[in-house]
Amino acid sequence: MSEARIVYLNGAFLPFDEAKVSVMDRGFLFADGIYEVSAVLDGRLVDNAAHLARLDRSLGEIGIRNPHTIEGWVGLQEELVRHNGLTEGLVYMQVTRGAFERDFAFPPAETPPTVMMFTQAKTVANNPLAERGAKVVTVPDIRWKRRDIKSVALLAQVLAKQEAAKAGVAEAWMVEDGFVTEGSSSTAFMVAGDAIVTRPLSTALLPGITRLAVMRLAGDEGLRVEERLFTVEEAVAADEAFYTSASAFVMPVVAIDGRPVGTGEPGPRARRLRDLYLELARA
Ligand code: PDD
Repeated sequence: MSEARIVYLNGAFLPFDEAKVSVMDRGFLFADGIYEVSAVLDGRLVDNAAHLARLDRSLGEIGIRNPHTIEGWVGLQEELVRHNGLTEGLVYMQVTRGAFERDFAFPPAETPPTVMMFTQAKTVANNPLAERGAKVVTVPDIRWKRRDIKSVALLAQVLAKQEAAKAGVAEAWMVEDGFVTEGSSSTAFMVAGDAIVTRPLSTALLPGITRLAVMRLAGDEGLRVEERLFTVEEAVAADEAFYTSASAFVMPVVAIDGRPVGTGEPGPRARRLRDLYLELARA
């Protein structure tokens, strides 16, 4: 943890060590909150309007009033990026239902939400993993039924990512009823011939912002975009696989559960889509 960082908390830009939240915060007690992650490249936020729109939707779905307008959010994010001199990395945003004496039902409507943002410096563009390609393991998807909401209740994803870490790989793909739902913090894709395949949106997965951008880029490239369920076996037998997220962009997958995908090297389509996404992100 870099102590030099400046954190945004409830209206103030504070030194890292001074940004403190109540033990009665409902985010801490109940995971009663929403988060978002936007990438920063060349000092600029990537596809940020879509992330803020999803933040607004997530808040609405659990009945927390969005404390800021879109313009308000952007102003705060840009100020935070400036305070931290961030050129490449991530902005993390979190809103919880605020601090109140512990009780499951909502606190009084006038309870202010807790609004917090921090930055993380990170190499997102020239990520060496994208050159090597990522390996993934599969785990059962043990999450709740509203995965379309970007909730801070991430225990299932924490456990999934730990399975990946134990196996020495980058990501875990979660599987339900025999089909891949998504990665622990990314959207799963496979490539079959001239088609990229990814799961259709539903309450079973997060509507990935990078997912949508990559689907559009693939269409522009003359690839077919198939939104359908796929199994682990199909993905292993596919020509290529990859995953997308605000932090990984487009990440080629070279092995699933120790079995090589395609040639066992990053595939040409995944590489091309990564390059196109980087171009778009920088545009
Ligand atoms: N995670 N699915 C899940 C479960 C995720 O947590 C994420 C992103 C995605 C990809 O969504 P997007 O393309 O909008 O980033 C899919 C972020 C990066 C995180 O939790 O850090």
